[in-house]
Amino acid sequence: MSEQTFEAVVGKILNDNQGTRVLKFEHQGQFYWLKQAEKLTGAMRFLKQSPAKALQIEVETLVMLASKGAQVPQLMCSSPDYFVIADVGPTISAWLSDKTLSQDEKQQILNASATALANLHQLGLAHGRPALRDISWSEGQVHFIDFEASQNSKDIAYQQRRDLLVYIHSLYRYMGPDHEMITPAIQAYRDAGGEAIWLDAKQWLTPWQWIYPGLRLFKDIGGKDLRPMFWLLWHFRQLA
Ligand SMILES: Nc1ncnc2c1ncn2[C@@H]1O[C@H](COP(=O)(O)OP(=O)(O)O)[C@@H](O)[C@H]1O
Ligand SMILES: [Mg+2]
Repeated sequence: MSEQTFEAVVGKILNDNQGTRVLKFEHQGQFYWLKQAEKLTGAMRFLKQSPAKALQIEVETLVMLASKGAQVPQLMCSSPDYFVIADVGPTISAWLSDKTLSQDEKQQILNASATALANLHQLGLAHGRPALRDISWSEGQVHFIDFEASQNSKDIAYQQRRDLLVYIHSLYRYMGPDHEMITPAIQAYRDAGGEAIWLDAKQWLTPWQWIYPGLRLFKDIGGKDLRPMFWLLWHFRQLA
């Protein structure tokens, strides 16, 4: 069988998987991800921004971030309805739930992700929503993916502070009360140039500390979002 061109492979996959949000495929020994505009149903059609527009923003963000030296996957091709990027390995959330990894190995991966976030911020950039399912790690390299929530009109200090709070919230969301790896990871962020942003986030949260005693009730039983809020406030209370 003759070798198919990359374009032909993408065309066939698109044809067979119309409307599939994200799809991993292989071509000549390399893995890639095809992402198509989200198919919205029901009320979501009115509540969320246009999927085509969101996809376009994501492509523009990828190109802009790559041009500034950020660690993002290589963009292979794009159109108004889809784009293809290179595979950048398993996500941090996947590594954390990998039972074959030691605590030490997980700590190193976490620290690498926190350092990478600090590096991104040092470049004067922000991610938009750096949850652990949207950061990857492979052979020591960290990459950021999923830029749909990205690059709003607020100033960069606001975006970076929000990045850090989303990231810490996501850490507690995955690890819950079992969180001895989190403080060292955040220390890695602070040591890699993130100290000023960390202090800004801490100060920004201070007026919210009054809800801490109330949130204590939810620290074990609260929902997926509320419970990490308790730990987020807790985090900034521990550290002077
Ligand atoms: N380039 C990539 N390398 C590795 N994994 C990826 C890549 N792109 C997407 N993924 C995987 O697919 C998931 C969904 O992709 P994402 O871009 O986050 O879509 P969505 O906007 O629907 O959340 C990611 O959380 C990640 O697990
Ligand atoms: Mg995502």
